[in-house]
Amino acid sequence: MKQLVIKAFGDASQLVLTETDAPALAADQIRVRMHYAGVNPIDAKTRAGLGWGAQAIKDKLPWSPGFEVMGTVLEVGAEVSIHQPGDRVFGLLTGGGYSEQLVVAADALLPVPAGVSDEMAAGLALAGTTAWQGLTEHGGLQAGERVLISAAAGGVGHLAVQLAKDLGAAVVALGSPANHDFLRSLGADEVIDYRDQAGLEAMAPVDLFFDLVGGTSGCALLSHVKSGGRVVTVPTITADKVIAAAEPLGVKATGMLKHQDNQQLAQLVQAVAERRLKVEVSQVYPLAEGAAAHRQIETGHTRGKILLQG
Ligand SMILES: NC(=O)c1ccc[n+]([C@@H]2O[C@H](COP(=O)([O-])OP(=O)(O)OC[C@H]3O[C@@H](n4cnc5c(N)ncnc54)[C@H](OP(=O)(O)O)[C@@H]3O)[C@@H](O)[C@H]2O)c1
Repeated sequence: MKQLVIKAFGDASQLVLTETDAPALAADQIRVRMHYAGVNPIDAKTRAGLGWGAQAIKDKLPWSPGFEVMGTVLEVGAEVSIHQPGDRVFGLLTGGGYSEQLVVAADALLPVPAGVSDEMAAGLALAGTTAWQGLTEHGGLQAGERVLISAAAGGVGHLAVQLAKDLGAAVVALGSPANHDFLRSLGADEVIDYRDQAGLEAMAPVDLFFDLVGGTSGCALLSHVKSGGRVVTVPTITADKVIAAAEPLGVKATGMLKHQDNQQLAQLVQAVAERRLKVEVSQVYPLAEGAAAHRQIETGHTRGKILLQG
């Protein structure tokens, strides 16, 4: 089977398509034909040797990125009853999604409901889980509150805008002008160009800041949070910096690392099936063009999600 791997940390050209044996199947596992794998900033950061992801795999190279997939079940292990060959499945992985075939624990992936496209299911798991957990578990967002979402047109942000609206919050979305109509179409109440200082200064303070950019940008936006308000800063590499900058302002900032929760994922995909949540897929690349997909995600200006097609 074909698999996209890195043999060493480095730039996108480190991604090479290899031919490898399909893994054996254990009794509690399923074999899945990958149709689409989501491409996320963590894939590129880990490929580059940055952050906790790279620490975790530095002694396990070659390594195949890919933390979320959608595919069709090819084969089930002897003890598996929750999936059948032919089922469409999706969900989170611990890596290895950039592969034609995957062998995973049967309960790692969930069924894709009728009415949800393969592409939308592929792009939902990582960004949707992060948006939901950031807004609710970490951010404690309540109906009637104002929430500021940076990188609102990106993978996590465009889902966070919709979920925050669904929770009854007033959403202030930051994005470049080319994304303003898109952000309004997702339900944002106010849209502001993050480069427009006057626009930012005129913004009324918020109860929650969902920081999807971190670093200097995250620190600069802290002054727009009400005293006693909350910040969830999502990029892990700069979380300590934002948390330290928030404290003297009387604002409580926390970092987060998304975790797998199949009940939440089932609710998110049901929301997609009921047209309450839309996953915007802006581009699909063939598996062999993974390097181009990584270069795109590294621009920091991707709208919605990009996918690799297996
Ligand atoms: N801790 C966790 O568990 C976890 C989970 C998921 C993601 N993350 C991290 O969260 C971050 C966001 O992930 P993502 O997948 O949403 O990224 P993404 O899709 O690459 O985000 C792209 C978006 O960022 C916007 N953007 C770029 N610079 C900006 C700025 N200075 N201010 C406001 N918006 C800006 C762009 O808007 P324009 O095109 O309009 O300029 C674009 O829409 C990444 O750092 C990722 O690694 C962490």
